[in-house]
Amino acid sequence: LKSGETMVMFSTCACCAPTYLVAVTVIAALCISGFGKVLKHTFPTAKLGIKIYKYISMVANILILLVAVAYGVLSSNENARRFVFSKIIEAGAVYPSPMDTLRCANIQNLHGRVLEIGPGPGTNFRCWQNNTSITEWVGVEPNPYFQQRQVVESEARNISFPVSTVWLKGEHVDIEPESFDHVVGTHVLCSVDDVRMVLKQVH
Ligand SMILES: C[S@@+](CC[C@H](N)C(=O)[O-])C[C@H]1O[C@@H](n2cnc3c(N)ncnc32)[C@H](O)[C@@H]1O
Repeated sequence: LKSGETMVMFSTCACCAPTYLVAVTVIAALCISGFGKVLKHTFPTAKLGIKIYKYISMVANILILLVAVAYGVLSSNENARRFVFSKIIEAGAVYPSPMDTLRCANIQNLHGRVLEIGPGPGTNFRCWQNNTSITEWVGVEPNPYFQQRQVVESEARNISFPVSTVWLKGEHVDIEPESFDHVVGTHVLCSVDDVRMVLKQVH
C-alpha cells in the first residue's frame, strides 16, 4: 500500500458522520449522568461535587433531547437532510485535504467526455485546473443544494470545458452506452442507496 491508500482505509466516510455524532453525544451524555449517580452513591457528603454534577447531568439531558429532535427532523424530512448534508460536505470541501493527492493522482489526466457520479460541491474540479484534454463533464447528483457551489467551484478552478449536471440519483440516470470516456466517483458508493445498480449503470 502507498501511504495515501492506507489513509483511505482509516478515513471515515463523511456520510456516516451524523450517525457517529448522535452515538457519541448519547454515550457521552449517559456517561456524564451515570458518573453523577456513582459520585452521589460513593461520596454522599460531597455536596458541592454532587450539585455540580446535577447541573452537568441536566445539560447532558437537554443535549440528548436536542440531538433526538434534530435526528427526528432530519430522518423524516429528506429536504432538510439534503440541505444539512450539503452544508457539511461543502464545509469540508473548502480546504485542501491530504486526500487531494490521492484523488488527483487518479483522475487529473482524464480526457474526452467525463461522467461523474455524486460530484457534490464539485470537489474534484480542483484536480482539473490545468486539464485541457477533457472535452465535457457531466455530473449525476441527486442533491440540488450543491448547484450553486458547483458553479462557484468550476469558476474558481478555471475549468475550461463545458460542465452540466443531471439532478438525479446514479441508479436512475439513463446513460447511452459508450457515450463517455471515463466515469468518476469519489467518496460516493458509501452514500448511494443501491451500489449494485449504480455500478451496473456505470458498466
Ligand atoms: C461524501 S459526498 C462526496 C462528494 C464528492 N464526490 C467528493 O469527493 O467530495 C457523496 C455524494 O454522493 C451523492 N450521492 C448520494 N447518493 C447518490 C446516488 N444515489 N447517486 C449519485 N450520487 C449520490 C451525495 O449527494 C454527495 O454529493
